[in-house]
Amino acid sequence: MGKAQESKVSGNTYDMQLLRRMLRYVKPYRHIFVWSVILTVLIAFLAPALPMLVEYTLDNYIFRSDYQGLYTMMVLMVVILLLQTCARYYHTLLTNTLGQSVIRDLRIATFNHISQLRLKYFDRTPIGRLITRTVSDLETIADIFSEGLIQIIGDVLQLIVIMGVMFYTDWRLTLIVLIPMPLMVAATYVFKEAMKSAFQDVRHWISNLNTYLQEHISGISIIQYFAREEQEMRKFKEINAEHRNAHIRSNWYFSIFFPVIEVIMAIALGLLVWYGSGSILEGRISPGVVVAFIMYINMIFRPIRELVDKFNTLQMGMVGAERVFSVLDTNEFTANNGKYQPTDVSGAISFKHVWFAYDEEKYVLKDLNFHVKAGETLALVGATGAGKSSTINILSRFYEINKGEVLLDGVDIRSYELGYLRRHIATVQQDVFLFSDSIANNISLYDPSITRQMIVEAAKRVGAHEFIMRLPDGYDYQVKERGSTLSVGQAQLISFVRALVRNPRILVLDEATSSVDTETELLIQKSIEALMEERTAIVIAHRLSTIQKADKIIVLDRGEIKEMGSHQELLQLNGLYKRLYDLQFQSAGV
Ligand SMILES: Nc1ncnc2c1ncn2[C@@H]1O[C@H](COP(=O)(O)OP(=O)(O)OP(=O)(O)O)[C@@H](O)[C@H]1O
Ligand SMILES: [Mg+2]
Repeated sequence: MGKAQESKVSGNTYDMQLLRRMLRYVKPYRHIFVWSVILTVLIAFLAPALPMLVEYTLDNYIFRSDYQGLYTMMVLMVVILLLQTCARYYHTLLTNTLGQSVIRDLRIATFNHISQLRLKYFDRTPIGRLITRTVSDLETIADIFSEGLIQIIGDVLQLIVIMGVMFYTDWRLTLIVLIPMPLMVAATYVFKEAMKSAFQDVRHWISNLNTYLQEHISGISIIQYFAREEQEMRKFKEINAEHRNAHIRSNWYFSIFFPVIEVIMAIALGLLVWYGSGSILEGRISPGVVVAFIMYINMIFRPIRELVDKFNTLQMGMVGAERVFSVLDTNEFTANNGKYQPTDVSGAISFKHVWFAYDEEKYVLKDLNFHVKAGETLALVGATGAGKSSTINILSRFYEINKGEVLLDGVDIRSYELGYLRRHIATVQQDVFLFSDSIANNISLYDPSITRQMIVEAAKRVGAHEFIMRLPDGYDYQVKERGSTLSVGQAQLISFVRALVRNPRILVLDEATSSVDTETELLIQKSIEALMEERTAIVIAHRLSTIQKADKIIVLDRGEIKEMGSHQELLQLNGLYKRLYDLQFQSAGV
């Protein structure tokens, strides 16, 4: 996906839509939201209290040396300060709670959504990008609440209240002090626009950084085996440099903006001192007013300066929200329109004129026709890239076929309820994936209907029980990162147990080609036999023993069925199968 597409510059109406959609996630936390708003209003109205008290104290007690009155005023000021502190404390607490609660819900929704997307989506979307979406993009959304939206409302309100008090106190002085205001607003606007694009760049590069890290740490062994550390480092440095530049650009705007604001504030102060002292001398206002106005100036200019910061936080949150929502709006699901759920399936499978392509029109499977009777074993053989894995991928509808039909018990697989279909077809993939969890959980995958006893029984049938019992905690042994602490053969046996414990009517097995020692090989051969018993099995076979036991063998070549029959029949044909057989098994001396 191009950069322009990934981070489109959004208009104001679009932002409003986004915000409204965001607020839908606030609904469950309405009460927190309402309390934050109440506190925001309270804080805004408390803001002018202190300057007003100072003004009053100066004019009525200090200049008149009234110590008793001064004492009362001090107590009042402390009370107001305490009140303000408490209000701010609860305000921060509530808005943070709100933000974190909203993104927790959003994160769950996002992960839930991602986990249901069809595999085709993941072929195109880097995992690192999805991780960025669910972690750092979401974090920026929390800031909308803790540092953005409610705070902006608060600042604007405070601005209005303070200006009201100022005009009420002395409208002429107020007008003089506000002369630099248009400058301030202009500077703020320019800055806000510049920051918007800078932040989009920052987020874009964070996403690239994550994608790169995720892939390269996962594939670290390749990098080290082939001694590519230096080259990879150079690439990583480039991405990092871009990431740094984007950050520096955004910080550069800040470093320009803050001094500009200081200068504008200084102008306002200068005007105040000049006009204010004149007015005092004329006896038009009291000195207390000028002191109070110094405090007011801080209270209106500082929020405006911070308003930009908060607008940026809001903007960043919006960019984050836009990205998260774009994931949530991805509707790449496997269509689940089928309702058919018979009490049982017998497991007969037919392919009728099946055509399939991963990308439009480049057919990987061409006009496949075959039938497997219930309980039979079908072996698929063929060169690499012939389409063997693709054939089994379409069977459980991990990918959708383009033309023709696949039938289970004479009924189109699309007519079955998807979960039902997948429950009855267990697939053992070519490369085993184990989660960082216990052996038992890796087998049951948290299916509550699978008991420990069922796991042990299945493991015994597959022949995995012995080695599992030899592990430190047996079935509770914690598998490390993708099974790196287990041997390839052991991981494979666990994946067999995972399939067998579900007792599926149909077993699909993509036999791994990895060679294991003779003892494990025998164990695996026996397990595969146990797996295929009493059920329909479709096996992508690399072992002669598996092929010979099959009722039917299909030879695939570039997506087409070239030969079909039993082992003996195919040998007698003296064609492709014979050649494959000679190459693969005879030369190996099997
Ligand atoms: N996710 C995918 N997206 C696009 N093309 C794919 C995808 N998976 C496989 N292909 C292509 O489909 C063709 C068939 O691949 P398939 O994985 O079915 O081969 P195979 O017979 O299982 O090979 P092997 O014995 O090496 O596992 C190949 O040309 C491959 O490039
Ligand atoms: Mg394959």
